[in-house]
Amino acid sequence: MKAAGIIGLGSYVPEKVLTNFDLEKLVDTNDEWITTRTGIKERRVAAVHETTTTMAIEAAKTALADANISASEVDLIIVATVTPDYFFPSTACQVQHAIGSPKAAAFDLFVGCTGFVYGVVTACHFVQSGSANCALVIGSETLTRIVDWTDRKTCVLFGDGAGAAVIAPVSDGRGLLGFDLGSDGSGGPLLKVEALQSCPADFSRFGFSGRPTIYMNGNEVFKFAVRVMADSTLAALQRADLTINDVDLIVPHQANIRIIDAAARRLGVPMEKIFVNVDKYGNTSAASIPIAMDEARRNGSIKDGSIVVAVSFGAGLSWASFVMRM
Ligand code: ACO
Repeated sequence: MKAAGIIGLGSYVPEKVLTNFDLEKLVDTNDEWITTRTGIKERRVAAVHETTTTMAIEAAKTALADANISASEVDLIIVATVTPDYFFPSTACQVQHAIGSPKAAAFDLFVGCTGFVYGVVTACHFVQSGSANCALVIGSETLTRIVDWTDRKTCVLFGDGAGAAVIAPVSDGRGLLGFDLGSDGSGGPLLKVEALQSCPADFSRFGFSGRPTIYMNGNEVFKFAVRVMADSTLAALQRADLTINDVDLIVPHQANIRIIDAAARRLGVPMEKIFVNVDKYGNTSAASIPIAMDEARRNGSIKDGSIVVAVSFGAGLSWASFVMRM
């Protein structure tokens, strides 16, 4: 098996910033509550012309430029999203056409916030086995379009953006070293956005109920998240034959600083080894880890040869982590 890993990173976030003070004008909340309970200070909101697809395209282009790879060389595109512009065509097919990757297979991956990590592990396996030579994995979300802006328990948490990684063969000892993917569908009702099951068969009689929005049981998701973030990190490290002391940086899903703090305590890792940018973007679901990894690489937190763990939890319920030598 070849070694496969990330050789380029990119991201795109909309220009429009929505601060906690802006939210105070929308719902009964305040900056102090949001900051202390979540660590979020502001998030980005897609403009009318920006969609999950357009942001995915921009993130993909920056990742390809970073890797110095032409789009024509890409032979696999995976887009992780829970906010596609269409049920079909897939976001990945639209990206394939827009960036010009005529020989790429393309599909979307629908695993909630863990989608990007699932996607990277999947793409690495394609490359390791020789089934693909150059893959693009993208996480892109317009969560502000499925937020209930009257529900203060959820509307303060989410934001929009996209991130991407180029996966290709790397030298031995680098790239994907271990991973852990998991699911527990019994927790599905804790975190959901209804789709067709909420549409009655006779549309003309009942009509479509309107824009679907996020439902979340925050307390239960919180407990689940703290547990799996630590457990999944350790499981992936074990598969890589490494310990927590070997890790240079953990890039966790950016959902809530208290979840990240609690997971760090469980792992016995100082916060200096954990990358955090939830204050700037809120929870961008499948986009959160690639946006964070791109930022961490650009500000020097991820260096050539760093051992990085990316770990996520999300709807499903699901969890995922990978260990990679960059
Ligand atoms: N502003 C002010 N008060 C609020 C707000 C708000 N935005 N939201 C809730 N409150 C109130 C509640 O109504 C409650 O008031 P009450 O005691 O009078 O009933 C009080 O604050 C405490 O509410 P809790 O829900 O217990 O607050 P908690 O400290 O648990 O924080 C939170 C809530 C931030 C949602 C937390 O539970 C959490 O982060 N959960 C995990 C969420 C998450 O990470 N989800 C990931 C989704 S990932 C994906 O796959 C999309």
